Amino acid sequence: MPTLTVEGFPPVEVESGKRLVLAIEQDAKVDVLHACGGNARCTTCRVEFIDGEPTRMTAAEKSVLNARGLSGVRLSCQILCDHDMSVRAISRLEGSGRPDPGPTPEETITPPAVWV
Ligand code: FES
Repeated sequence: MPTLTVEGFPPVEVESGKRLVLAIEQDAKVDVLHACGGNARCTTCRVEFIDGEPTRMTAAEKSVLNARGLSGVRLSCQILCDHDMSVRAISRLEGSGRPDPGPTPEETITPPAVWV
């Protein structure tokens, strides 16, 4: 099982292939935002990678990052935990002023992953 480390929190083992956004929230117990429900639209699930950044990316992630001019961040809703990863949770419910983190993302990547 891959190890996920969220900076400032204890490392956790996560089910291989789990969506990173869900692993951060459910396993690492960190209040990451996912305002669009994991559909590569809002970018509130963004994280910075410290180690283990995946080389592949979904077309949806690439498109929204490019459209918003974002670099140095990845969308945790578009990433699967298939190897050890260390990330910084830079977009959290705490301090956001939002009432909740957003709808719970589905277990599989949405929209259906097209890898680029
Ligand atoms: S882009 Fe909205 S939850 Fe990932």
